[in-house]
Amino acid sequence: MAAPHSPRSDDWWRDAVIYQVYPRSFADGDGDGTGDLAGVRARLPHLAELGVDAVWFTPWYASPMVDGGYDVADYRAIDPAFGTLAEAEKLIAEARELGIRTLVDIVPNHVSDRHPWFRAALEAGPGSPERERFHFRPGRGEHGELPPNAWPSQFSGTTWTRVPDGEWYLHLFTPEQPDLNWAHPDVRREHEDVLRFWFDRGVAGVRIDSAALLVKDPALADFEEGADPHPYIDRDELHDIYRSWRAIADEYGAVFVGEVWLPDAERFARYLRPDELHTAFNFTFLTCPWEVGRLRRTIDATLAEHAPVGAPATWVLCNHDVTRTVTRYGRADTAFDFAAKRFGTPTDLDLGTRRARAAALLTLALPGSVYLYQGEELGLPEADIPPERIQDPMHFRSGGIDPGRDGCRVPLPWEAEAPWYGFGSDGEPWLPQPEDWAHHAVDRQRTDPGSMLTLYREALSLRRSEKGFGDGPMTWLPAEDGVLAFARTDGLRCVVNLSDVPAALPPHERLLLASGPLRADGTLPRDTAVWLRA
Ligand code: GLC
Repeated sequence: MAAPHSPRSDDWWRDAVIYQVYPRSFADGDGDGTGDLAGVRARLPHLAELGVDAVWFTPWYASPMVDGGYDVADYRAIDPAFGTLAEAEKLIAEARELGIRTLVDIVPNHVSDRHPWFRAALEAGPGSPERERFHFRPGRGEHGELPPNAWPSQFSGTTWTRVPDGEWYLHLFTPEQPDLNWAHPDVRREHEDVLRFWFDRGVAGVRIDSAALLVKDPALADFEEGADPHPYIDRDELHDIYRSWRAIADEYGAVFVGEVWLPDAERFARYLRPDELHTAFNFTFLTCPWEVGRLRRTIDATLAEHAPVGAPATWVLCNHDVTRTVTRYGRADTAFDFAAKRFGTPTDLDLGTRRARAAALLTLALPGSVYLYQGEELGLPEADIPPERIQDPMHFRSGGIDPGRDGCRVPLPWEAEAPWYGFGSDGEPWLPQPEDWAHHAVDRQRTDPGSMLTLYREALSLRRSEKGFGDGPMTWLPAEDGVLAFARTDGLRCVVNLSDVPAALPPHERLLLASGPLRADGTLPRDTAVWLRA
């Protein structure tokens, strides 16, 4: 099969709007309560109407779903709950006909404990070549009863599990997600093959999960906080892996976006060198509080770190791992921090929504590409999940302190009056939907000029027709305290008021779009943004 668009010259990704689909919760085509590919295919017109350039699917492969599909048992099969490979191929083609490219999610750090390689490793026993594809070690202590090291898990708790023959294996996440040994040639070969498998099916790009964690120091030794180099974060050997991946992507004209959480801007930018990843998620922006100075510094730092390597920035407000934007922005602390997540944190959703609307215009006016997480265009808040319905391992592994990530993964409301808000026809959704979500439903919002959906549709449509948005230069304009104002080319201006008092707008010829009503005297109220033509 040929790649669907011409390789190399095509740099659509430099300013794309990419919509993240969490297949389990997008739309349920077969009525069993779990979203699926049939549901996505039926709802493609929503994405086309919204005006996105591409869709990134979180893992849709065969998986026991211990970590929502980030525990992959077979990369070449679609999970039966979602559909079949033939359907995925149809979906990719149908989306492409609507002008929407497809990105898949590859999880190279680990596989499911049901993956044939891990089954074989358990079976084959200590010292076998099968175990070398993972990190198996004898334990410490007199009888090997202690884990080989004290590395902390990304999901709290231990990173080692002991198998019946006495050996231990490493897992940075849950025990059901054994880490692969990236020093093993099979591991590299297999992933290169998997990339080709999906590129051959017309996939235009790949999101790389936990992209900075793959390589481990073979000594697997304990370390002190701040160790340099770190035994498993951001090791230099990773760049060689991504260079070989890039060569494959280039054959197809496909692109990468890396999930790279790194505080060091210079180290982050290394992943974006011209022969490595095309883009990486901007988590500094995602975690930034709604505060004028912090936002401005983050925007400047982002552009400064990307400039030397020539990569476009990405702008992300939320995803399937973090608190939904309208909820976060309505809190006293508007930053995002995994460690700070607690049940019952108070929020003012009206305030959060007003800010999220302003943030939408801010991000969509910045240079680079933008990621939208399903439901963000509907202004969905984080849902409270009753404790007995929680599924996310992050909750359980925190000893029940962290509410987990299910609150941002609730099945979407499509129709205000239909059972389950039209998510599916029969079965109760796998996570409960809040009772007061009718006003968030797509059918209500489509016809409401003041809805979040209308705002996103108008913004995406303008962003597409106005060539000055997307990739390219931006310049800060003089502004009152608490106001962000910047110019793009073609006379485009974006002004965001984060202060407590109304702000005067700079001279302009036309108001293109506003995130909320202006005041009668023409000034910009607090937590409101506008796009202007000067
Ligand atoms: C990434 C994913 C997250 C998953 C983890 C382990 O951070 O975004 O959802 O739990 O990797 O694969």
